[in-house]
Amino acid sequence: MNKSLTLPVCSKIPKVSIIGAGNVGKTLAQRVIEHNLADVCLLDIVEGLPQGIALDLMEARGIELHNRNIIGTNEYQNTIDSDVIVITAGIARKPGMTREDLLKINAKIVTEAAQKCFIYSPDALYLVITNPLDVMTYLVWKTTDLPSHKVVGMAGVLDSSRLQTFIAMELGVSVNDVQGMVLGGHGDLMLPLPRYCTVSGIPITELMDTVTIERLVQRTRDGGAEIVKLLKTGSAYYAPASSAFQMIESVLLNQSQLLSAAVYLQGEYGLNDIYLGVPCRLGCYGVEQIIEINLTDEEKRTLYDSARSVRDNINLALEQLESE
Ligand code: APR
Repeated sequence: MNKSLTLPVCSKIPKVSIIGAGNVGKTLAQRVIEHNLADVCLLDIVEGLPQGIALDLMEARGIELHNRNIIGTNEYQNTIDSDVIVITAGIARKPGMTREDLLKINAKIVTEAAQKCFIYSPDALYLVITNPLDVMTYLVWKTTDLPSHKVVGMAGVLDSSRLQTFIAMELGVSVNDVQGMVLGGHGDLMLPLPRYCTVSGIPITELMDTVTIERLVQRTRDGGAEIVKLLKTGSAYYAPASSAFQMIESVLLNQSQLLSAAVYLQGEYGLNDIYLGVPCRLGCYGVEQIIEINLTDEEKRTLYDSARSVRDNINLALEQLESE
């Protein structure tokens, strides 16, 4: 290199740490580096697993031709100075395990992970993916000193993407033209809003009959379960990873995308002290704005049912965490 060359000061490459190197974590890691979005630190409790995945992904750089680095680790200090922390760590429900057992185990895994990450990255945006999503997102906020606008759950983007896909498939149109909106809790508790779904600006209620719309809504509600049934072991991970990637991009590139995510409500929609999926603006500050849209009485009832179930599980998880 020419000695007299004065190199410009490089701005910091963004860093994303992903806790949990399972299917969602490793797929997301691949998306983030191969899109040149950020360097990645992939952490798992299993020794060798994140290191092996990271090395494999690094060795693809000669072909994928990106310039981002990925490291695999079992040590939280390697997550230092992250801009985004993604929490996917957890276990899946096993035969004989009750929902309460699973809640307790994942609550412990997720809160410990968040607290350890917080030591090294107190200013990061925390994106929670582990299920039950809304409950885990609340626990991350509750058990750290993070401000609520820096903790967000990934569900609405995934559920909306599923609905958009089904609408596009049904109408034979490009998914590019379809906008979908799904609120509420993740899973059975979601509230798809056909009134707010459009194809090139046309509400889908103008393009499909009620029976068809209800069928697509139900398939969206069962979206995760349909894939679990096909896979037999494990659950969906490509679409969850794509959804998380979209949210991270909105944060790191300060795009302020308006999307549906689990955010902390303080009076919005008449709900308090809960994380639930609603439309929000997501940028480098985190959750920049929560958008309140008009809901019919029936839609409100579904949202409140969803909130009640999330709250019951939050209380259960908090009791279990406190009793330890
Ligand atoms: N610390 C770090 N990693 C952990 C811990 C822990 N305490 N406990 C478990 N893990 C890791 C596991 O070793 C595993 O590699 O979390 C990873 C979970 O990966 P998978 O079982 O493959 O689950 P995945 O399909 O990636 O889903 C992750 O996202 O969509 C949700 O419901 C899904 O809660 C699940 C999460």
